[in-house]
Amino acid sequence: MTNPKILVTSALPYANGPLHLGHIAGAYLPADIYVRYQRMKGRDVIYICGSDEHGVPITVSADNEGVSPQEIVDRYHAMNREAFQKLGMSFDNYSRTSLPLHHETAQEFFSIFHRNGDLIVKTEEQFFSEKSRRFLPDRYVEGVCPHCRYDRARGDQCDKCGKWLEPRELIDPVSKIDGSRPVLRKTGHWYFPMGRFAAEWKTWFDANTWKENVRNYCMGWYNEGLGDRPITRDLHWGVPVPLEEAKGKVLYVWFDAPIGYISSTQEWAQRIGDPDRWKDYWCDPETRLVHFIGKDNIVFHAILFPMMLSRAGGYVLPGAIPANEYLTIEGRKISTSQNYAIWLKDYLDLFPPDPLRYALAANAPETKDTDFSWKQFQSRNNDELADILGNFVNRTLTFVHRYYGGRLPGAGVLSDRDRAMREAIRRAPQEMGEALEAFEVRRAAKRFMDVCRTANKYFNDAAPWETRKSDPGACATTLNLCVQTVRTLAVLMAPILPFSSARLLPMLGLETLPAWDAAGDADLPEGHALGDPGILFAKIEDDVIDREIEKLARISQPAAAGPPEKASVPEIGFEDFSKMDLRTARVISAERIPDADKLLRIGIDLGGETRQIVAGVAQFYTPEELVGKTLIVVANLKPAKIRGVESRGMLLAVKTGTGLRLLAPDGETEPGLRIS
Ligand code: MF3
Ligand code: ZN
Repeated sequence: MTNPKILVTSALPYANGPLHLGHIAGAYLPADIYVRYQRMKGRDVIYICGSDEHGVPITVSADNEGVSPQEIVDRYHAMNREAFQKLGMSFDNYSRTSLPLHHETAQEFFSIFHRNGDLIVKTEEQFFSEKSRRFLPDRYVEGVCPHCRYDRARGDQCDKCGKWLEPRELIDPVSKIDGSRPVLRKTGHWYFPMGRFAAEWKTWFDANTWKENVRNYCMGWYNEGLGDRPITRDLHWGVPVPLEEAKGKVLYVWFDAPIGYISSTQEWAQRIGDPDRWKDYWCDPETRLVHFIGKDNIVFHAILFPMMLSRAGGYVLPGAIPANEYLTIEGRKISTSQNYAIWLKDYLDLFPPDPLRYALAANAPETKDTDFSWKQFQSRNNDELADILGNFVNRTLTFVHRYYGGRLPGAGVLSDRDRAMREAIRRAPQEMGEALEAFEVRRAAKRFMDVCRTANKYFNDAAPWETRKSDPGACATTLNLCVQTVRTLAVLMAPILPFSSARLLPMLGLETLPAWDAAGDADLPEGHALGDPGILFAKIEDDVIDREIEKLARISQPAAAGPPEKASVPEIGFEDFSKMDLRTARVISAERIPDADKLLRIGIDLGGETRQIVAGVAQFYTPEELVGKTLIVVANLKPAKIRGVESRGMLLAVKTGTGLRLLAPDGETEPGLRIS
């Protein structure tokens, strides 16, 4: 058989926040398990990923924190990269889309389409905020989904029904920046006419087999008509559109991001000193291109990107798109805005990576949403990894050390029970491999644990602690087979439990792991010296798990309709209140702070004293609006530096449903008066 090249990608995560278990279960862990398996099969496989550093998700996070987009992507690129590494994600390259190499490659695609007449220029009305004086592309607008009526659909996509939206399709649109009702303004953009390429796409799509969710979603979209999609945006952050007449416009993030798979591969090729090597994968029609994604990314990977690759010409198209469903946590939907999630980083501060890898693999949301619960995680670790796999390995290795001086005893004639065990490990690599080839990580994990269970039961039933005296030959045979089985398991566990497999290797007295296909060979020679046995999996105690469950339970659900929640703060006496120096203050100057979209530098008159205050109100007030107003400040708050600017005092404000209002005394008031 020839050795086909396999090019595996995982969705480039937005560098706008930390990774949580939902990300891992969907697009990353299954891919890593698949890739590790393929490497052990001796296949020519590379695994490509990187940070998605453009688009509205990034600029919105930057706005919210009052920092620059660059600061956001630098922070989360480093953080996510490190968390991935600790989890054992074995990317061949982890790039970032803000690199010049990526900008060039993405611009090249645009230019090819432009040259070939594959783009349409149109001037259409788009949402604009008069308050913030800017266009509101994509997620800058939220509203009701026209298809499923989900009330928090984003301008680019509905998270509920997965539809790709244009902001103008939303019912009841609201600006995310300032809570205002957007107005329409004309602006010119470049459109990718997907409808024009739909027939060609359909022929290709129908000629392949796809996972059911991919097929269903795509057929739905195709039947509704694919239309023209704008691939440029009025934004200051992104890949600049490579045209003179497009100053101030950038490429749409879903146009540039998938090209990131290519530029990340180019970066990899440069790094290994073979700059054209990326073409061996991307430009060979025999390559098997596999995109691991979450289901919300289906339209972009199954329709838009294949169309782009095909129009650009000379590129391989995806052969498989294992799109996963969602993971819930303790029965509830993950919500980053409500901070309801288990963050990968937090997990890794508490526990080793392998138990999570196993728990998520065994419960992967492949065909339907699945739930992660801490109790189930604990049971996967304690009752399966520790009590079955760990126990079998430990009792086998310690037995050989105690009674055979740590050297493998030879096998004699096999009994029926021995033969059944021997047969089980002979078949296991193939069976587990079939599941992995089909991207069924769940089934592979289950198959693996079944082998462990069979092995543990074999040890019990063969009772070597008895046959040691009554039938030494049988005892030696049992232990020989058990050690051979541990070796098989060390191979089979490697894709899912790479750290534990690596620790098991020296215990087995081995330096390298056998190849996948040799895993069931049972050919360790008699007399082979084992290393020192150790504990593979520590049990996790109840109190540790209970703490994590409580932590999640404390994160409140958003209040349903009804009166606002009463804040729970302690009762105070007048002396506590009087410690606060609250005063009236007149705003004498106000200005924006460069690169901090949320902040204003405000000069106040405190009646004979002037001061500078930095306040996060820029999204709700213009500097001009504020000057002359009399407001209320906490005058004795410790001075602080906010983004490098000194702030002495704090303005009082209330948060309303849509924004923020500053508090002011009722009627004309002099500045500097004490509030009591
Ligand atoms: N950043 C996107 C998300 O998190 C995924 C981008 S995948 C790519 O949903 F193909 F565009 F790279
Ligand atoms: Zn919807």
